[in-house]
Amino acid sequence: MNICFLMYPWEEIDPENDTSLALIHECVKRNHGVALCSPANLTIRNSVTNAFCTVINRMEKVSGSLKSFYKQADIREEMLPLAGFDVIFMRANPPLDPIMLNFLDSVKDDVFIVNSLQGLREANNKLYTAAFGDSHSNIIPATHVSKNKNYLLRQIKESKSEKMILKPLNGFGGSGVILIEKSAMSNIKSLLDFYVTNSDGTSNYVILQEYIEGADQGDVRILLLNGEPIGAMKRVPGSDDHRSNVSAGGSVAKHSLTKQEKALCKQIGPKLVKDGLYFVGIDVIGGKLVEVNVMSPGGVTYMNKVYKTKIQSKVIDFVESKVMDKLKAFQRRSRLRDEVENA
Ligand SMILES: Nc1ncnc2c1ncn2[C@@H]1O[C@H](COP(=O)(O)OP(=O)(O)O)[C@@H](O)[C@H]1O
Ligand SMILES: [Mg+2]
Repeated sequence: MNICFLMYPWEEIDPENDTSLALIHECVKRNHGVALCSPANLTIRNSVTNAFCTVINRMEKVSGSLKSFYKQADIREEMLPLAGFDVIFMRANPPLDPIMLNFLDSVKDDVFIVNSLQGLREANNKLYTAAFGDSHSNIIPATHVSKNKNYLLRQIKESKSEKMILKPLNGFGGSGVILIEKSAMSNIKSLLDFYVTNSDGTSNYVILQEYIEGADQGDVRILLLNGEPIGAMKRVPGSDDHRSNVSAGGSVAKHSLTKQEKALCKQIGPKLVKDGLYFVGIDVIGGKLVEVNVMSPGGVTYMNKVYKTKIQSKVIDFVESKVMDKLKAFQRRSRLRDEVENA
């Protein structure tokens, strides 16, 4: 098959720790045609969606190590029509560019896209998790999303617990996630002003969420493939921060799923699959779901190292099976059409 990774440029890959590179490596080892293109390189050429791609030339012997493969890979630049690929694998970093999705809309019936465009649209910010329909906060921490500063202030005042989390709806990498404490109420109005109201008169939705006790011990990142967990790790915040994101100074450690985490995956898996969110990374604290990361979840190289697994192999098996299903459906329909035509 031919697969196009829609992601950051080849030169920006970290050859030691990059989940996208592990996926690319797996495809090249299986002798699939592999190209990369960044969202900025999408192009309409004579009304056909194309991309300036970095194509990896086929190689006879592929090194088993990611670092050597990255060095060894021989690449060329080529403009290629996106509908000619069997698969487009979204690995671009957030935030999601809505125009990129419009480009992909034009090929969505021809190409299998991971994750689906509908899923990416629905889950590209934290509203997806906040609106999961869990009014008793069994699997999601009690969450409010609003632009109404009076409403948010009232929720803080009425909260039974001392601590709450305030974060932007569209944030990522831990940016803007702050811990607020009722004992420091004098700052809160000013913080709400800052988060909600922009200087140009526009405003933002913000999330106000129950602080999950135990978060200082770290959160758990679970990778789910087709609704099933395929790997997990713990992320522990640095000593001077409450956020566990690696980009915010958190460190990673081994983690085996608890009973509660397994139950959470079982509960949310079917919805993820229904929404076309085939490969995602969820953030879980104290067994509760905090975020679903749908664009470019990482952690595969770390999990491979500590568990001696090859998570990328499962992911590419799944993608191949989806392409095969599509091909079989096409062949079946052609056979039936011939039967009618020749009757
Ligand atoms: N409700 C919460 N309770 C405790 N800690 C939280 C909560 N929400 C977020 N955090 C901490 O902040 C980090 C980043 O929050 P998250 O919602 O995952 O946003 P981002 O998209 O920036 O990663 C989490 O990994 C966790 O360490
Ligand atoms: Mg997160």
